[in-house]
Amino acid sequence: MRLTAIRREAKAATVRAENEKRFRALAHISLCTWRRVPYKHGVSELSARSIDAGTRYCAVYGHPVRHSASPAMQNAGLAALGLNWRYLGFDVHPESLPSAIAGAQAMNFIGLNLTVPHKLLALDIVDALDDSAKLWGSVNTVRFEAQGEQGEWKPLGEFANAPRKVRSRGFNTDAEAVARALREDLQFESRGKTVLLLGAGGAGRTAALKLASAGVAQLFLVNRTQSKAETVAKEIGRLYPEVMLDLGYPPGKVDLALNATSLGLRPDDPLPFAETHFALHDAAAVFDMIYRPAETPFIKLAQAAGCRTANGLGMLLHQGARALELWTGQPAPTAIMREALQKNVYG
Ligand code: ATR
Repeated sequence: MRLTAIRREAKAATVRAENEKRFRALAHISLCTWRRVPYKHGVSELSARSIDAGTRYCAVYGHPVRHSASPAMQNAGLAALGLNWRYLGFDVHPESLPSAIAGAQAMNFIGLNLTVPHKLLALDIVDALDDSAKLWGSVNTVRFEAQGEQGEWKPLGEFANAPRKVRSRGFNTDAEAVARALREDLQFESRGKTVLLLGAGGAGRTAALKLASAGVAQLFLVNRTQSKAETVAKEIGRLYPEVMLDLGYPPGKVDLALNATSLGLRPDDPLPFAETHFALHDAAAVFDMIYRPAETPFIKLAQAAGCRTANGLGMLLHQGARALELWTGQPAPTAIMREALQKNVYG
């Protein structure tokens, strides 16, 4: 018996030594090429190995959060930047949000992303609001900051040791991500364009305001609950009076039809628009904020009608990429982050 145990231990020691050698070899390989290394233990083991007492943390808070692709995307970005940082996901009950933010602040976290249902709640929790959070009325990114020698607030990532006084600052990177995704994935530039926007919930309101601020000429707003569309229309009328606004479907062609409703998430959902009132071949481009599934019935119909199409994955990418830039002060490696996102979401 003892002999078997000794043999087993000797074998385990050999395997450990071999793994150690592999890790050392991998440490010399550029981070951008590590995914091509044929390594049988996988990337998560490699990452876990290098966590140490100097590792810094970012996280996404949601409720629920299990579905979130942000950890996959952000950890790929952090690895590509060569940072000894990790990005985690926490299911935080809305009632615990103040203490969860305070906890991250106390533990020298770099920053947070907030997803449903925390984005509005955080407005009253963070210590300071960036103009973007004030403008778009929600917080999807928190950056922890401390004061430099001149008293200026700087990202916590720039401090090696935990400063005594840290503040949380709320940003919104969602709105800018809509514009960037439309530009990159659909070659759509807002200025002077006509848009049919379906949905006036949180995402619809943000898209409407962003499109208006980016110079859209005419906006048609459609929402199941008319009063919400009216509220958004009023807000746009006040802030961007130059935009022509209509509540209802357009009589003719539009440059873009955008789905900001949740219709399409479930296989048995109806289309997000009434086919009796609008035909998709009257839209030059179609964007669906939904990215899971990759092709909703709305997108499939648009493809069949010959429209340029894109789903919401680019939005998810760009809101995260901007958050990473706010935390690191470096350009985000968007190609690597997009690849990680695609792999995580679509397998
Ligand atoms: P988000 O923050 O993702 O925008 P939300 O604020 O709950 O989420 O908004 C969901 C959007 O999908 C709203 O425009 C909603 O319409 P209502 O304002 O009338 O609720 C729309 N939506 C959800 N379920 C719908 C359904 N069955 N039919 C039509 N629209 C629906």
